[in-house]
Amino acid sequence: MRISASLSCAVLALATLTAVSAQTKPSAAAKSKPVVHTKAPILAATPPMGWNSWNYFAGKVDDKGVRAAADQIVATGMKDAGYTFVNIDDTWEGERDASGVLHTNDKFPDMKALADYVHSKGLKIGIYSGPGPKTCAGFEGSLGHEAQDAQLYASWGIDYLKYDLCSFGRAVMQAQAPNDKAEQMRMMYSAYKKMGDALKATGRPIVYSFCQYGMDAVWEWGPSAGGNLWRTTGDVQANWGSIYNIINQQAGLAKYAGPGHWNDPDMLEVGNGTKDNQGRVRLLSLPENRTHFSMWAMLAAPLLAGNDLPNMKPEITAILTNKDVIAIDQDRLGKQATHIYSDGEVDVWARHLTGGAMAVAVLNAGPDKYSTHPFHLSLAKLGLHGPQAGKDLWTGKDVTLTDNMPVELASHDILLVRIASPK
Ligand code: GLA
Repeated sequence: MRISASLSCAVLALATLTAVSAQTKPSAAAKSKPVVHTKAPILAATPPMGWNSWNYFAGKVDDKGVRAAADQIVATGMKDAGYTFVNIDDTWEGERDASGVLHTNDKFPDMKALADYVHSKGLKIGIYSGPGPKTCAGFEGSLGHEAQDAQLYASWGIDYLKYDLCSFGRAVMQAQAPNDKAEQMRMMYSAYKKMGDALKATGRPIVYSFCQYGMDAVWEWGPSAGGNLWRTTGDVQANWGSIYNIINQQAGLAKYAGPGHWNDPDMLEVGNGTKDNQGRVRLLSLPENRTHFSMWAMLAAPLLAGNDLPNMKPEITAILTNKDVIAIDQDRLGKQATHIYSDGEVDVWARHLTGGAMAVAVLNAGPDKYSTHPFHLSLAKLGLHGPQAGKDLWTGKDVTLTDNMPVELASHDILLVRIASPK
């Protein structure tokens, strides 16, 4: 992978050199005209926000459901809070015709009309494919049709592509380089780059989301393959164990995130649950939903809601539309939180924000911590000195953090504080 990455750096360096030497001899025309540099806006300058069909609907997603999700994003205030993308995940794909053009299946009678509908709401639309012959759910993948598919997406008006490794691993990497892990990784890099180049060639700005579960330290090479975000882990599930495990796997990744390129700890499960042995759905508790959402914001993660929007409870809408928490996620500096320290089952994370501000999260992964045995916050470990005036982003109230102060937290709950002028 490093070979490919450094190769593309070399190409970039060569292009820069050519541009510099061209600039050293300005033509007469160039001398008389002032050169105006217009910078193209960065794609995904802040982490993408929206909704994705997979976590709740999986294979049941259809045209009607996607329209309903778009309607609800507007009606619930999510659009005003910043949610933009309406992303169709796996199971929309039909068959290819004799010319190789991919068609939708019966669930999606007219993708262009659906895209127009989503756009008419002032929203954007995303789609899903993968570099292998088949997607994870066994539908048609893009192998051998990358440019054709990219053009198709652009012709529909697609704004976002999630590209999922799935069958490429077995059908291509393992089949063609069975005992050569390094070669397999090069093949994976090339496959992602190929679609990245195909998307660029359409001329349409399409956010490019890698889904290969963090293999081969994707954060190191994702940007050079054209990625705007990349999954850092396996699939999230709507239970505390999965969410907390994913949070812990993000430690050490902060330096790889920034405007245009983000670590993706997977889509949100806020409002969702998992079935227990008896088939009963165990929903995430409110503290768990708050902690999940807060930590994704701290991690500068994409905020892609994954719940049933038409049947969303008010308390879930309130979590997903907490503008103070969203502002942490969308902070333009794009500095992902780092893990500062843990004391027993309590973890402290912090991130720097624009204007010198700071966000601090204190997360209780264990049982309740009330006045009999509260957690004590060390400001020194956060590099802070003396009382810090801040805002508790879940109560909306002003708070002052002091050194060694007791913090009472329910099990799996979080204290999230924004300090405007940390000292
Ligand atoms: C993989 C991805 C999921 C989802 C499914 C669809 O498991 O990680 O996010 O896209 O495929 O089949």
